Amino acid sequence: MKFVRSLMKAAALANVPKHIDHFSKFSPSPLSMKQFLDFGTINACERTSFVFLRQELPVRLSNIMKEINLLPDRLLGTPSVQLVQSWYTQSLMEILEFLDKTPDDQSVLETFLEVLETIRNRHNEVVPTMAQGVIEYKDAFDQQDAVTDHNIQYFLDRFYTSRISIRMLINQHTLVFSGNINPAHPNTIGCIDSVCDVTEVTRDAYESAKLLCEQYYLGAPELELRQMNANNVREPIQISYVPSHLYHMLFELFKNAMRATIETHESSRTLPPIKVMIALGGEDLSIKMSDRGGGVPFRRTERLFSYMYSTAPRPCIEDKHRAPLAGFGYGLPISRLYARYFQGDLQLFSMEGNGTDAIIHLKALSTDSVERLPVFNKSALRHYKLSLEADDWCVPSKEPLNLANYLHCYILYHLKTW
Ligand SMILES: Nc1ncnc2c1ncn2[C@@H]1O[C@H](COP(=O)(O)OP(=O)(O)O)[C@@H](O)[C@H]1O
Ligand SMILES: [Mg+2]
Repeated sequence: MKFVRSLMKAAALANVPKHIDHFSKFSPSPLSMKQFLDFGTINACERTSFVFLRQELPVRLSNIMKEINLLPDRLLGTPSVQLVQSWYTQSLMEILEFLDKTPDDQSVLETFLEVLETIRNRHNEVVPTMAQGVIEYKDAFDQQDAVTDHNIQYFLDRFYTSRISIRMLINQHTLVFSGNINPAHPNTIGCIDSVCDVTEVTRDAYESAKLLCEQYYLGAPELELRQMNANNVREPIQISYVPSHLYHMLFELFKNAMRATIETHESSRTLPPIKVMIALGGEDLSIKMSDRGGGVPFRRTERLFSYMYSTAPRPCIEDKHRAPLAGFGYGLPISRLYARYFQGDLQLFSMEGNGTDAIIHLKALSTDSVERLPVFNKSALRHYKLSLEADDWCVPSKEPLNLANYLHCYILYHLKTW
């Protein structure tokens, strides 16, 4: 019996590339926040959701699995990336099992829900495992290759976005149809709060970051919060959003602002506060966080969004008792993905010598908040095949001109003009 089962598993595994080819030909279908909300309330139908997900999940998984396969061989071959790849294959196979099942059978729906929960748990450690793979690869083969760095950055942005979206679909289905209503938040549909109080989430994120900061530095800057609801000044600022996503972004920004503030004011007795301004207009919800933490040189601002870039010492992953304040370099890039996932953005404006403004822009309307998803197609493929071409802007020489050289240029110049 055991032998037959392992034979069947091997046969199923052999078919996986065919399934990936098939499902990656479909584009993922982005959903809007409004569709998520309507689906969880007015039209909540488990069978429809089941039929949608057993097609959409394989499509999203296969699209990104195609891109995993395009990673440089030596990165693909690391034990960590192999492990991640095996999780994706396993999860894809488990969902495909439901393709020929009828939605009218209640036990099918129940098993599907359990399988989704198993898949979610299986993928819990994808981010640190993939990060570990990149570290292994960098440590073994780092030749400061700009093309590879670009490709890895391009891939990770898409890979992590895809993961956020897959978890969103799974969470909505399992939370809405498991029948557990959260009495503390009756307006919550799955993981979306239709009246997410932005100020409240901001304060929560500040308090958690403050606790962590106090553990490390025995102090933390104060918070100065202001808000402007242009639609109705007396009303609190509320939007339809996933509170955990918003919390994640703000928590990361607060940790960065606190670390910068404390490290630049080590010798002074007072710490300048972190100022947050929240504004709601007709189209945008914007949050600006300003610190006086000394800022970053302009030249380095884009690099801050690179996975791998951190100015803090690399923390120990095994130390599970102490959450690190900084050091993985994933805070900003992942937060920007959360903001972009529903058509928002996260930007950093810094004045070296003074401080940094971090701005989160989100869509105020649930009809505008539409999932932003990667799709595997020819343009994506072209990115991975990109080769290092000569820059079409002059690259200034890093060496100072020596005098002989300078005179040579000077003479040539004057010969030309006179
Ligand atoms: N508000 C800020 N002020 C100064 N530097 C910042 C600020 N935010 C981020 N940085 C710089 O950007 C780097 C990357 O930030 P992040 O992605 O959150 O990773 P980590 O905090 O783990 O280093 C930080 O190490 C720090 O050098
Ligand atoms: Mg950080």
